[in-house]
Amino acid sequence: MPLEALQQLERTIESRIRRFEQRNGIRLDDEVRFIRSWLEKPLSTGAVTPSGRVLARTMARYVDANTAGPVVELGPGTGPVTEALIAEGIAPERLVLVEFNPTFCQLLRARFPSATVVLGDAYGLRRLLGGLLQQPAAAIVSGLPLFTKPVRMRLRLLRDALELLRPGAPFVQFTYAVVPPIPKRLVGVRAEASERIWKNMPPARVWVYRKG
Ligand SMILES: C[S@@+](CC[C@H](N)C(=O)[O-])C[C@H]1O[C@@H](n2cnc3c(N)ncnc32)[C@H](O)[C@@H]1O
Repeated sequence: MPLEALQQLERTIESRIRRFEQRNGIRLDDEVRFIRSWLEKPLSTGAVTPSGRVLARTMARYVDANTAGPVVELGPGTGPVTEALIAEGIAPERLVLVEFNPTFCQLLRARFPSATVVLGDAYGLRRLLGGLLQQPAAAIVSGLPLFTKPVRMRLRLLRDALELLRPGAPFVQFTYAVVPPIPKRLVGVRAEASERIWKNMPPARVWVYRKG
């Protein structure tokens, strides 16, 4: 086949892939990165594919862009929730992204150059962010696979997160499970849940915890 025809074929295939991605709200290269990460570390990756658009938007809508302070994301992965936060009006400069996987950190730095990307373990939140945050956070949004950790670690994470947040500001967490990822009846904490999001694969629910 002549070179020109080959190049034309390549362009056609690429444009079909882009159209497929746009129609379905996914990026195939991110799907591949995610599957690779899941094969290497299934427990810490916690999902086989990145969150879908509807789930990401649902999480982002719990964050009030008008509340002052940084917005922290735990376990951003390839960044679908980060993108939704920006689409909801959060300036990228306000974002602090805490990710465990160095390959995802590299990708996040390239995709969101104005955000602060922190390579580290989100369960050490206070130590990791205590010196970094200049003011209380407006929200903490988490994609961490919490069920891979014992309940006492999840409770400690929530307690540390609430200490870093403005009073009444949300700690937002999604889960594929039918039960809350952190017990919903805790002294001094208000918890609420979204409807189940059937348009995600697998279906998910968003839980929100606030001091109060
Ligand atoms: C279920 S994926 C969610 C990714 C992304 N938020 C999304 O919705 O598609 C979990 C992410 O949390 C990261 N992660 C897991 N444990 C972590 C930890 N202890 N500290 C920071 N990130 C962690 C994984 O590397 C992965 O990117």
